[in-house]
Amino acid sequence: MNTRQFEAVIPLAHLPEGRMQACMLDGREIVVCHTRAGVFALDNVCTHAEARMSEGRLRGTTLVCPLHGGAFDVRDGRATGAPAELPLGVHALRIVGGMIEVAPGPQAVRP
Ligand code: FES
Repeated sequence: MNTRQFEAVIPLAHLPEGRMQACMLDGREIVVCHTRAGVFALDNVCTHAEARMSEGRLRGTTLVCPLHGGAFDVRDGRATGAPAELPLGVHALRIVGGMIEVAPGPQAVRP
């Protein structure tokens, strides 16, 4: 049974395309990214070290880490640029009545 609970985090109107915003959800740091491909929610802490992804750059659907330049695809969290190798955790997201809602998923996958 799916017990995930969606929680409202940001009004969509407050997050224009090309922007991202950090938020806390169930004690976890999440970054919500609005791209031309849609809106996505990921873990906000880089899997390479301890940088906050929301302090990096969002280029199209690529999220670039501010510390060493590791890159991730916001659509599925996979690492697309070194030195990042492990994916960022991705969280279920929906938009209801103009509000972005996120349901925290499992922690980032570790091999
Ligand atoms: S901390 Fe993100 S690439 Fe190193």
